[in-house]
Amino acid sequence: MSTRPQDAEGRPAPAEALPLSAIHHVEIWSGNAKQSEYFYRKAFGFSRIAYAGPETGIRDRASYVLAQDEIRLVITSPIGEGGKINRWLSEHGDGVRDMAFATGDVDLCHREAVARGAKDQGAPVDLGDGVRRATVATYGEVLHSFIDAKDFTGAFLPGYEASEIPEEDVGLRYVDHIVGNVEEGQMDAWRDWYERVLGWHQFLSFDDKDISTDFTALRSKVMSSPTGKIKFPINEPAAGKKKSQIQEYLDFNGGAGSQHLALLTDDIIKTIGQLRDRGVEFLEVPDSYYEVLTERVGAIDEDIEVLRKLKILVDRDDQGYLLQLFTKPVQDRPTLFYEIIQRKGSQSFGKGNFQALFESIEREQERRGNL
Ligand code: FE2
Repeated sequence: MSTRPQDAEGRPAPAEALPLSAIHHVEIWSGNAKQSEYFYRKAFGFSRIAYAGPETGIRDRASYVLAQDEIRLVITSPIGEGGKINRWLSEHGDGVRDMAFATGDVDLCHREAVARGAKDQGAPVDLGDGVRRATVATYGEVLHSFIDAKDFTGAFLPGYEASEIPEEDVGLRYVDHIVGNVEEGQMDAWRDWYERVLGWHQFLSFDDKDISTDFTALRSKVMSSPTGKIKFPINEPAAGKKKSQIQEYLDFNGGAGSQHLALLTDDIIKTIGQLRDRGVEFLEVPDSYYEVLTERVGAIDEDIEVLRKLKILVDRDDQGYLLQLFTKPVQDRPTLFYEIIQRKGSQSFGKGNFQALFESIEREQERRGNL
């Protein structure tokens, strides 16, 4: 890394971006994959497409693969005592283990990433049928796998068998972004990591002047792949009068980890309506939010009365607007949650909503006795 050329200000010149085309899948480690899989199917409208476990020759775990349009989630549980997954679950609880990338050159990605300072978590291996995979570590105990499966015609990856339980989808299309929470003072180091190792660039940043209430504050930097197809915001807590929600996450997750996955829809009114009907719990938004909405964001296509009923949030920037809503944590630990987002021109992340959002998150935090 120190051998890389520097620019006039002494910062390393941008690294050449690794050839990562998309998020291949997100693997979630869960204490009970069988029940989690049912939740994601029945509540979120994912269909099961594949399975790996004892019946397919995998002795220590069971993995269910869920699909909705381009989104692939793999839910994995250990099935015996001891071992890495049990230890990980005891420390972190249910959460994201791997944010895996699709690439056309696993060996190049792994070799370059490790040479640029990424921690090696698995050299390139042939999984059969021309599929290759390698892995490096990112923040916390979360991984980035590099996967080349473009010529694979099976259910998901070699080792998985087709196992189909179709469900009616709710219009979720792809992973818009995945947010990581890191310890106070570590955000810039991880910003640098994504710049140096993957060759990404910083797309946006917020600090505690943008996002703070009486009780909590955060700083955030959004890292983006060159095409903008993959975006990873990185948050760190900032001091408030009481415990930041980011700090609450870090305490309950046992350190850094993935805070939320944002899933994109083209019709958020339909998607949120269906998710609510199926029992997904969302953060509460005060009615007063909608009293000043038009004043804040100007004219929008949607009927504000419908948005108020479904509690959908709206934010505008100079390119357009976006609609979004956040679920409550999807496990008992106040850690991983989901965001549903629809973009109408805006490529940002709802900065103007954070104040309203924080206030509602804090009401939840207070009920858990963690403020
Ligand atoms: Fe988000």
